[in-house]
Amino acid sequence: MKKTVTAFAPATVANVGCGFDIFGFAVAEPGDIVRVTRYDGHGVRITAISGDEGRLSQNAAENTAGFAVLRFLEEIQSDQGIEIHLTKQLPLSSGMGSSAASSVAALKAINHLFENPQPKRKLLEIGMAAEALACGSPHADNVAPALYGGFILIRENNPPEIIRLPVPENLHCTLIHPDIEIKTQDARNILPATVPLKTAVRQWANTAALVAGLYRKDLDLIGRSSTDHLVESRRATLIPGFDEVKQAALDSGALACSISGSGPALFALSASLKTARKIALEMGKIYTRHSISNQVYVSKINCTGARIIHEE
Ligand code: HSE
Repeated sequence: MKKTVTAFAPATVANVGCGFDIFGFAVAEPGDIVRVTRYDGHGVRITAISGDEGRLSQNAAENTAGFAVLRFLEEIQSDQGIEIHLTKQLPLSSGMGSSAASSVAALKAINHLFENPQPKRKLLEIGMAAEALACGSPHADNVAPALYGGFILIRENNPPEIIRLPVPENLHCTLIHPDIEIKTQDARNILPATVPLKTAVRQWANTAALVAGLYRKDLDLIGRSSTDHLVESRRATLIPGFDEVKQAALDSGALACSISGSGPALFALSASLKTARKIALEMGKIYTRHSISNQVYVSKINCTGARIIHEE
Protein backbone atom coordinates (compact mmCIF):
# COMPACT_ATOMS: atom_id res chain seq x y z
CA MET A 1 0.00 0.00 0.00
CA LYS A 2 1.34 3.41 -0.93
CA LYS A 3 1.98 5.77 1.97
CA THR A 4 2.46 9.06 0.13
CA VAL A 5 1.90 10.40 -3.39
CA THR A 6 2.83 13.76 -4.92
CA ALA A 7 1.18 15.13 -8.06
CA PHE A 8 1.61 18.17 -10.28
CA ALA A 9 -1.24 19.93 -12.13
CA PRO A 10 -0.54 22.63 -14.69
CA ALA A 11 -1.76 26.16 -15.25
CA THR A 12 -4.53 26.44 -17.81
CA VAL A 13 -5.80 29.03 -20.25
CA ALA A 14 -9.58 29.11 -20.06
CA ASN A 15 -11.88 30.67 -22.68
CA VAL A 16 -9.11 30.92 -25.35
CA GLY A 17 -10.68 34.12 -26.63
CA CYS A 18 -14.03 33.26 -28.14
CA GLY A 19 -14.92 30.25 -25.98
CA PHE A 20 -16.11 31.79 -22.71
CA ASP A 21 -16.61 28.90 -20.28
CA ILE A 22 -16.32 26.27 -23.05
CA PHE A 23 -12.65 26.18 -24.15
CA GLY A 24 -9.49 25.62 -22.15
CA PHE A 25 -6.02 24.27 -22.66
CA ALA A 26 -3.14 23.30 -20.40
CA VAL A 27 0.40 24.66 -20.54
CA ALA A 28 3.61 22.94 -19.44
CA GLU A 29 4.36 25.25 -16.54
CA PRO A 30 3.88 26.66 -13.98
CA GLY A 31 1.64 24.41 -11.89
CA ASP A 32 0.74 23.47 -8.33
CA ILE A 33 2.10 20.48 -6.44
CA VAL A 34 0.15 18.50 -3.85
CA ARG A 35 1.47 15.73 -1.61
CA VAL A 36 -1.02 13.48 0.17
CA THR A 37 0.07 11.16 2.96
CA ARG A 38 -1.80 8.55 4.99
CA TYR A 39 -1.73 8.87 8.76
CA ASP A 40 -3.13 6.59 11.43
CA GLY A 41 -6.36 8.30 12.31
CA HIS A 42 -9.27 10.06 10.67
CA GLY A 43 -9.86 13.37 9.01
CA VAL A 44 -8.20 15.48 6.37
CA ARG A 45 -5.69 18.05 7.57
CA ILE A 46 -3.59 20.50 5.66
CA THR A 47 -0.19 20.45 7.29
CA ALA A 48 1.51 23.07 5.14
CA ILE A 49 0.89 25.48 2.28
CA SER A 50 3.82 27.24 0.69
CA GLY A 51 3.85 29.95 -1.96
CA ASP A 52 0.56 31.61 -0.95
CA GLU A 53 2.00 34.12 1.53
CA GLY A 54 -0.30 32.73 4.17
CA ARG A 55 -3.47 33.70 2.33
CA LEU A 56 -5.15 30.36 1.73
CA SER A 57 -7.21 28.68 4.41
CA GLN A 58 -5.61 25.66 6.09
CA ASN A 59 -9.09 24.43 6.90
CA ALA A 60 -9.46 21.54 4.46
CA ALA A 61 -13.11 22.27 3.73
CA GLU A 62 -12.27 25.85 2.67
CA ASN A 63 -9.37 25.09 0.38
CA THR A 64 -9.82 23.60 -3.12
CA ALA A 65 -7.16 20.91 -2.55
CA GLY A 66 -8.59 19.97 0.86
CA PHE A 67 -12.16 20.13 -0.38
CA ALA A 68 -11.30 17.82 -3.28
CA VAL A 69 -9.71 15.24 -0.97
CA LEU A 70 -12.66 15.37 1.44
CA ARG A 71 -15.13 14.88 -1.39
CA PHE A 72 -13.03 12.06 -2.88
CA LEU A 73 -12.94 10.17 0.43
CA GLU A 74 -16.68 10.65 0.80
CA GLU A 75 -17.20 9.15 -2.68
CA ILE A 76 -15.14 6.05 -1.89
CA GLN A 77 -16.56 5.91 1.65
CA SER A 78 -13.18 5.94 3.33
CA ASP A 79 -12.35 7.43 6.71
CA GLN A 80 -8.61 7.15 6.14
CA GLY A 81 -6.72 10.05 7.72
CA ILE A 82 -4.94 12.14 5.09
CA GLU A 83 -2.39 14.92 5.44
CA ILE A 84 -2.02 17.41 2.60
CA HIS A 85 1.01 19.48 1.70
CA LEU A 86 0.27 22.11 -0.93
CA THR A 87 2.98 23.90 -2.87
CA LYS A 88 1.42 26.84 -4.70
CA GLN A 89 3.41 27.87 -7.72
CA LEU A 90 0.53 29.65 -9.39
CA PRO A 91 -0.32 33.14 -8.22
CA LEU A 92 -3.80 33.53 -6.73
CA SER A 93 -6.50 35.28 -8.78
CA SER A 94 -4.22 35.21 -11.82
CA GLY A 95 -6.45 33.89 -14.59
CA MET A 96 -4.15 30.88 -14.90
CA GLY A 97 -6.43 28.35 -13.24
CA SER A 98 -4.80 28.52 -9.81
CA SER A 99 -7.67 27.04 -7.81
CA ALA A 100 -8.15 24.27 -10.40
CA ALA A 101 -4.45 23.38 -10.40
CA SER A 102 -4.62 22.81 -6.63
CA SER A 103 -7.78 20.70 -6.69
CA VAL A 104 -6.67 18.68 -9.71
CA ALA A 105 -3.20 17.97 -8.28
CA ALA A 106 -4.90 16.86 -5.05
CA LEU A 107 -7.34 14.62 -6.93
CA LYS A 108 -4.62 13.08 -9.09
CA ALA A 109 -2.55 12.35 -5.98
CA ILE A 110 -5.33 10.96 -3.78
CA ASN A 111 -6.75 8.77 -6.55
CA HIS A 112 -3.29 7.30 -7.14
CA LEU A 113 -2.80 6.76 -3.39
CA PHE A 114 -5.91 4.54 -3.42
CA GLU A 115 -4.91 2.69 -6.65
CA ASN A 116 -7.15 4.81 -8.89
CA PRO A 117 -10.67 3.76 -7.82
CA GLN A 118 -12.30 6.78 -9.49
CA PRO A 119 -12.49 7.48 -13.23
CA LYS A 120 -11.30 10.88 -14.47
CA ARG A 121 -14.89 11.85 -15.07
CA LYS A 122 -15.63 11.63 -11.34
CA LEU A 123 -12.47 13.60 -10.57
CA LEU A 124 -13.72 16.23 -13.01
CA GLU A 125 -17.03 16.52 -11.18
CA ILE A 126 -15.28 16.93 -7.84
CA GLY A 127 -12.91 19.51 -9.33
CA MET A 128 -15.88 21.46 -10.68
CA ALA A 129 -17.47 21.48 -7.24
CA ALA A 130 -14.17 22.83 -5.88
CA GLU A 131 -14.32 25.64 -8.46
CA ALA A 132 -17.77 26.56 -7.19
CA LEU A 133 -16.25 26.76 -3.71
CA ALA A 134 -13.41 28.98 -4.97
CA CYS A 135 -15.36 31.45 -7.06
CA GLY A 136 -19.04 30.61 -6.95
CA SER A 137 -19.17 29.09 -10.42
CA PRO A 138 -18.64 25.38 -11.24
CA HIS A 139 -17.01 26.08 -14.62
CA ALA A 140 -14.90 23.23 -16.02
CA ASP A 141 -12.68 25.13 -18.44
CA ASN A 142 -9.70 25.13 -16.05
CA VAL A 143 -10.32 21.84 -14.22
CA ALA A 144 -10.83 19.74 -17.36
CA PRO A 145 -7.62 20.74 -19.20
CA ALA A 146 -5.60 20.58 -15.96
CA LEU A 147 -6.83 17.03 -15.45
CA TYR A 148 -6.87 15.66 -18.99
CA GLY A 149 -4.31 17.91 -20.68
CA GLY A 150 -4.65 19.20 -24.20
CA PHE A 151 -7.26 21.52 -25.67
CA ILE A 152 -10.72 20.85 -24.27
CA LEU A 153 -14.22 21.77 -25.33
CA ILE A 154 -16.87 21.70 -22.62
CA ARG A 155 -20.08 20.90 -24.44
CA GLU A 156 -22.19 20.64 -21.31
CA ASN A 157 -21.66 21.32 -17.63
CA ASN A 158 -24.45 19.38 -16.04
CA PRO A 159 -23.78 16.54 -16.39
CA PRO A 160 -20.34 17.43 -17.73
CA GLU A 161 -19.51 16.39 -21.25
CA ILE A 162 -16.02 17.25 -22.37
CA ILE A 163 -14.44 16.74 -25.77
CA ARG A 164 -10.67 16.66 -26.33
CA LEU A 165 -9.74 18.51 -29.48
CA PRO A 166 -6.63 17.85 -31.58
CA VAL A 167 -3.68 20.17 -31.03
CA PRO A 168 -1.39 21.11 -33.93
CA GLU A 169 2.15 20.05 -33.10
CA ASN A 170 3.70 23.49 -33.59
CA LEU A 171 1.12 25.52 -31.65
CA HIS A 172 2.88 27.46 -28.88
CA CYS A 173 1.55 29.54 -26.03
CA THR A 174 3.07 32.57 -24.37
CA LEU A 175 1.51 33.31 -21.02
CA ILE A 176 2.23 36.53 -19.19
CA HIS A 177 1.09 37.31 -15.68
CA PRO A 178 1.25 40.91 -14.47
CA ASP A 179 1.41 41.17 -10.69
CA ILE A 180 -2.12 42.36 -10.08
CA GLU A 181 -5.09 40.32 -8.92
CA ILE A 182 -8.56 39.99 -10.37
CA LYS A 183 -11.09 37.86 -8.58
CA THR A 184 -12.93 35.58 -10.99
CA GLN A 185 -16.21 36.47 -9.31
CA ASP A 186 -15.59 40.20 -9.96
CA ALA A 187 -14.61 39.51 -13.57
CA ARG A 188 -17.83 37.54 -14.03
CA ASN A 189 -19.98 40.16 -12.36
CA ILE A 190 -19.06 42.80 -14.95
CA LEU A 191 -20.34 40.67 -17.83
CA PRO A 192 -23.78 41.37 -19.29
CA ALA A 193 -26.57 38.90 -18.58
CA THR A 194 -27.73 38.97 -22.20
CA VAL A 195 -26.08 39.63 -25.56
CA PRO A 196 -27.50 40.86 -28.85
CA LEU A 197 -28.28 38.08 -31.31
CA LYS A 198 -25.94 39.55 -33.95
CA THR A 199 -23.05 39.44 -31.51
CA ALA A 200 -23.93 35.90 -30.49
CA VAL A 201 -23.89 34.83 -34.14
CA ARG A 202 -20.38 36.25 -34.66
CA GLN A 203 -19.25 34.54 -31.48
CA TRP A 204 -20.54 31.06 -32.23
CA ALA A 205 -19.20 31.32 -35.78
CA ASN A 206 -15.78 31.87 -34.25
CA THR A 207 -16.07 29.02 -31.76
CA ALA A 208 -17.03 26.64 -34.54
CA ALA A 209 -14.25 27.96 -36.79
CA LEU A 210 -11.68 27.54 -34.01
CA VAL A 211 -12.63 23.87 -33.68
CA ALA A 212 -12.32 23.50 -37.47
CA GLY A 213 -8.93 25.21 -37.32
CA LEU A 214 -7.68 22.74 -34.72
CA TYR A 215 -8.85 19.75 -36.77
CA ARG A 216 -7.38 21.18 -39.97
CA LYS A 217 -4.15 22.27 -38.24
CA ASP A 218 -4.81 25.66 -39.82
CA LEU A 219 -2.98 28.04 -37.52
CA ASP A 220 -4.19 31.20 -39.26
CA LEU A 221 -7.79 30.07 -38.92
CA ILE A 222 -7.18 29.26 -35.24
CA GLY A 223 -5.73 32.73 -34.78
CA ARG A 224 -8.44 34.79 -36.40
CA SER A 225 -11.33 32.71 -35.09
CA SER A 226 -10.25 32.99 -31.46
CA THR A 227 -11.42 36.64 -31.55
CA ASP A 228 -13.88 37.30 -28.75
CA HIS A 229 -16.84 39.65 -29.10
CA LEU A 230 -18.46 39.12 -25.71
CA VAL A 231 -16.04 39.30 -22.84
CA GLU A 232 -12.64 40.74 -23.68
CA SER A 233 -13.54 44.41 -24.07
CA ARG A 234 -15.28 44.49 -20.69
CA ARG A 235 -12.62 42.60 -18.78
CA ALA A 236 -9.80 44.50 -20.49
CA THR A 237 -10.83 47.54 -18.43
CA LEU A 238 -9.59 45.66 -15.35
CA ILE A 239 -6.13 45.01 -16.84
CA PRO A 240 -3.73 47.97 -17.02
CA GLY A 241 -1.95 48.21 -20.38
CA PHE A 242 -4.09 45.47 -21.95
CA ASP A 243 -4.37 47.06 -25.42
CA GLU A 244 -0.68 47.88 -25.58
CA VAL A 245 0.42 44.41 -24.48
CA LYS A 246 -1.95 42.72 -26.91
CA GLN A 247 -0.70 44.91 -29.75
CA ALA A 248 2.91 44.09 -28.84
CA ALA A 249 2.08 40.37 -29.07
CA LEU A 250 0.37 40.74 -32.45
CA ASP A 251 3.21 42.93 -33.78
CA SER A 252 5.66 40.21 -32.72
CA GLY A 253 3.89 37.59 -34.82
CA ALA A 254 1.19 36.21 -32.49
CA LEU A 255 -1.65 34.39 -34.21
CA ALA A 256 -3.95 35.55 -31.41
CA CYS A 257 -3.80 37.26 -28.04
CA SER A 258 -6.47 37.63 -25.38
CA ILE A 259 -7.17 37.36 -21.67
CA SER A 260 -6.34 34.05 -20.03
CA GLY A 261 -9.44 32.97 -18.10
CA SER A 262 -10.73 35.87 -16.07
CA GLY A 263 -7.34 37.63 -16.15
CA PRO A 264 -5.13 39.49 -15.48
CA ALA A 265 -2.86 36.99 -17.29
CA LEU A 266 -2.79 37.25 -21.07
CA PHE A 267 -2.03 34.45 -23.50
CA ALA A 268 -0.74 34.60 -27.05
CA LEU A 269 -0.66 31.77 -29.56
CA SER A 270 2.08 31.38 -32.13
CA ALA A 271 3.46 28.96 -34.67
CA SER A 272 6.97 28.48 -33.31
CA LEU A 273 9.04 28.54 -30.16
CA LYS A 274 11.12 31.37 -31.58
CA THR A 275 8.06 33.57 -32.12
CA ALA A 276 6.60 32.59 -28.73
CA ARG A 277 9.83 33.75 -27.05
CA LYS A 278 9.91 37.00 -28.99
CA ILE A 279 6.30 37.66 -27.96
CA ALA A 280 7.23 36.96 -24.34
CA LEU A 281 10.04 39.49 -24.50
CA GLU A 282 7.94 42.22 -26.09
CA MET A 283 4.92 41.73 -23.81
CA GLY A 284 7.20 41.76 -20.78
CA LYS A 285 8.82 45.01 -21.91
CA ILE A 286 5.46 46.81 -21.89
CA TYR A 287 4.67 45.79 -18.31
CA THR A 288 8.19 46.62 -17.21
CA ARG A 289 7.79 50.06 -18.81
CA HIS A 290 4.57 50.46 -16.78
CA SER A 291 6.50 49.37 -13.65
CA ILE A 292 4.30 46.28 -13.28
CA SER A 293 6.35 43.23 -12.35
CA ASN A 294 5.44 40.15 -14.32
CA GLN A 295 6.24 36.53 -15.05
CA VAL A 296 6.28 35.04 -18.52
CA TYR A 297 5.97 31.38 -19.53
CA VAL A 298 6.45 29.83 -22.95
CA SER A 299 5.44 26.29 -23.84
CA LYS A 300 3.63 24.05 -26.25
CA ILE A 301 0.14 22.97 -25.28
CA ASN A 302 0.53 20.39 -22.51
CA CYS A 303 -1.26 17.29 -23.74
CA THR A 304 -0.56 15.22 -20.62
CA GLY A 305 -2.26 17.25 -17.89
CA ALA A 306 -1.83 16.38 -14.22
CA ARG A 307 0.85 13.82 -13.46
CA ILE A 308 2.31 11.87 -10.55
CA ILE A 309 5.78 13.10 -9.69
CA HIS A 310 6.58 10.99 -6.62
CA GLU A 311 5.25 8.01 -4.65
CA GLU A 312 6.51 5.77 -1.91
N1 HSE B 1 -14.37 30.73 -17.82
C1 HSE B 1 -14.04 31.31 -16.54
C2 HSE B 1 -14.21 32.82 -16.65
C3 HSE B 1 -12.63 30.96 -16.24
O1 HSE B 1 -13.74 33.37 -17.64
O2 HSE B 1 -14.81 33.42 -15.79
C4 HSE B 1 -12.09 31.55 -15.00
O3 HSE B 1 -10.71 31.19 -14.89
